[in-house]
Amino acid sequence: MDTFVIEGGRRLSGRVRVYGSKNAALPLTAAALLTDQPVTLRDVPDLADLRNMYRLLAELGCVRTSEPPAEQPGVLRLHTQSTSNSHARYDLVKTMRASICTLGPMLAKRGFARVSMPGGCSIGDRPVDLHLRGLAALGAEITLTAGDITAKAPQGGLRGATIFLGGASGSTVLGTANVMSAATLARGVTIIESAACEPEIVDLANMLNAMGARIRGQGSPRLIIEGVKELHGVEHTVIPDRIEAGTFILAAAITNGDLILDNCPMDALLAVVDKLAAMGVRIATVPSAPGVPPAIDPMRASVRVTCDRVLKPVEVTTQPHPGFPTDIQAQLMATLTLADGNSVITERIFPERFLHVAELSRMGAKIYRQGPTVIISGVKRLIGAPVMASDLRASACLVLAGMAAEGTTVIHRVYHLDRGYERMEDRLNSVGAVIKRVDDKDLPPDSRIAEG
Ligand code: UD1
Repeated sequence: MDTFVIEGGRRLSGRVRVYGSKNAALPLTAAALLTDQPVTLRDVPDLADLRNMYRLLAELGCVRTSEPPAEQPGVLRLHTQSTSNSHARYDLVKTMRASICTLGPMLAKRGFARVSMPGGCSIGDRPVDLHLRGLAALGAEITLTAGDITAKAPQGGLRGATIFLGGASGSTVLGTANVMSAATLARGVTIIESAACEPEIVDLANMLNAMGARIRGQGSPRLIIEGVKELHGVEHTVIPDRIEAGTFILAAAITNGDLILDNCPMDALLAVVDKLAAMGVRIATVPSAPGVPPAIDPMRASVRVTCDRVLKPVEVTTQPHPGFPTDIQAQLMATLTLADGNSVITERIFPERFLHVAELSRMGAKIYRQGPTVIISGVKRLIGAPVMASDLRASACLVLAGMAAEGTTVIHRVYHLDRGYERMEDRLNSVGAVIKRVDDKDLPPDSRIAEG
């Protein structure tokens, strides 16, 4: 199993490009099931989660096609060529929860879908009741058999409806993606109230519209979807990854660095920029190259991140977009362990998403947790230690902590990180980090962690 060995105490400096968004790309690829014409996506990151998705889509008859000249990096061509299998099996779904995104598109296009129920994961229970409630409101008959969700459209197909899609923690991102995608082919008008406003949903709505759908209100809590008879093929560029951008910004902050990020989706990061300003981290738009005026697209800006030597503590609550994203909570926590005073983080989306607390504590952080709230009492320094990655964003948090710590940090199970960050260590090393990827077996025994 791959492990990172990080020599800490290096200040990051230089320039990195933010890649296309994983969380946007996943539902976009599933939307290829809505048409029998080819769908071409650009700026798709090369990640384990997406490779799992291609495997699943291929089983469902939607194949990845490469056309001459040889496929360029980041370009993905998908083409649904068969509809004979509509069953997303457990062994593929369990490796990647986002497989649930195939449910709405298959149901709408084929009238039938069977998708294994995704289980919980290390960040909590992660139910899908809202997805199912939304699809049922469009007329689908939903049953649960042997751990699989079976959804059947009524005779004549799905029909438009007014749907409230809010739950105890607010809106649902993939639930909105599923119901919105299904409603594009329903008869009549669908209104989704309490829809997710995340930029990834806006990207999906924009691509669906370019395929012939009629969606209005994307980016707001009310989506209005006029159903159409069919959707056609499309070429679409995936938005840059706001979570990756936020992670790089915090990497600059925790190492007291000076980084330029290109292709940075500033418009999707306002809550993060606001909190970081309060901490003493400055993010300013700069030219994308010497002599070139700053980009006017606020989703693809070049920005320079610089910070005060001593960071100030802050209070943060995670919320649905446009609030502070839960997917940046762990990386922010790593950074706040070195702030000058007490910070408070409350997790409102996934109240159990705190497995990184114990690992940061192993490195000398002072963190006290009570339910969904943690108090982080800033320390003068973190000390390198062997630690365990437990989920994708917790892994990124440990990489940040390792880069700032004194001495060597060994992070086990970095396969979690590879699910969401393409060549993370190469890119961080290119701006001054010292991170080596090694096989667990090649480590000295005292750096190994027993399985169990
Ligand atoms: C997506 C993101 C994930 C991010 C999360 C919240 C992808 C692939 N994943 O996950 O990285 O952390 O949004 O921003 O895009 N809920 C219900 N019932 C449901 C669905 C959700 O109660 O049917 C609850 C969840 O338990 C959670 C909240 O709603 O408390 C938000 O979850 P949701 O937005 O659905 O997360 P995902 O779309 O799975």
